[in-house]
Amino acid sequence: MGRGKRKHVKLRAPVTSQGHKNHSDREIIDKVHQLNQKIAAGEDVPKSARLEIEKAGGINAYQVASQRGERKAKYGNFTSAVWVTKQLKSCGLKPKDGRLRLLDVGAVTLQYEPFSSWIECEAIDLNPQHRAIIKADATQYKSSPFNVIVLSLVLNFTGDAVERGAILRNCRRLQVDGGHLFVVLPLKCLINSRLFTTERLDMIMSSLGYKSLLCHQSKKLSFHMFELAAPDRKETFSRKTLKRGPGMNKFEIILETS
Ligand SMILES: C[S@@+](CC[C@H](N)C(=O)[O-])C[C@H]1O[C@@H](n2cnc3c(N)ncnc32)[C@H](O)[C@@H]1O
Repeated sequence: MGRGKRKHVKLRAPVTSQGHKNHSDREIIDKVHQLNQKIAAGEDVPKSARLEIEKAGGINAYQVASQRGERKAKYGNFTSAVWVTKQLKSCGLKPKDGRLRLLDVGAVTLQYEPFSSWIECEAIDLNPQHRAIIKADATQYKSSPFNVIVLSLVLNFTGDAVERGAILRNCRRLQVDGGHLFVVLPLKCLINSRLFTTERLDMIMSSLGYKSLLCHQSKKLSFHMFELAAPDRKETFSRKTLKRGPGMNKFEIILETS
């Protein structure tokens, strides 16, 4: 080939990029995930964590990146609305007439829009990314009672164990008797924490008046469906070491009096 006749070679993205559209997304998400790991490990870093997240582009940047589907990389092809609506149908809870009132706590997208014929969704988030999502803190949110409340990957996102308990208590206040609460958590919060287990979650929920209807696990996530069946016993749950072992995290939920 002569000097002036070089063949044009189209450059391809390196295989290691895993097809991420935007390099800064990866950095922001890695940063937030690292912080979440610190939080799950029980390090008391909520304030400094927030500062670090701000430095990494802010929670806004994380949520926007999250919307681009990055969460898929971590938890696979999972959409909580698909799982929740499937469970409601299989439990015979899809109404023949009218709509169920559903509260989606920590909503990044409007996941329940495709189900609007039978679900009236109120979506809230501390830092909404969509006009239709209400800016609100789930520890204090007030509204008319809901048939269904969804906490999908929210309790682990919150860095403070007391705040996790406060979210659960407020959900109890917002729930109609006989209503259903869905919780999705990373599996490691339940199987690899020295301070938390599925039994501990069920005890806390039972003290709030919920009975466990269903619990199953995927490779990375743990899925729980509860039914509000009894009065709140107004009990408290403080820190308790339940397991010991190397490399375990310190995820926990602390339930204080309301
Ligand atoms: C990982 S995202 C969960 C997204 C979505 N629920 C899902 O399953 O894909 C966690 C969200 O919970 C929100 N969040 C955390 N604590 C909250 C609180 N106290 N009140 C309302 N939203 C909260 C965060 O702002 C964040 O958008």
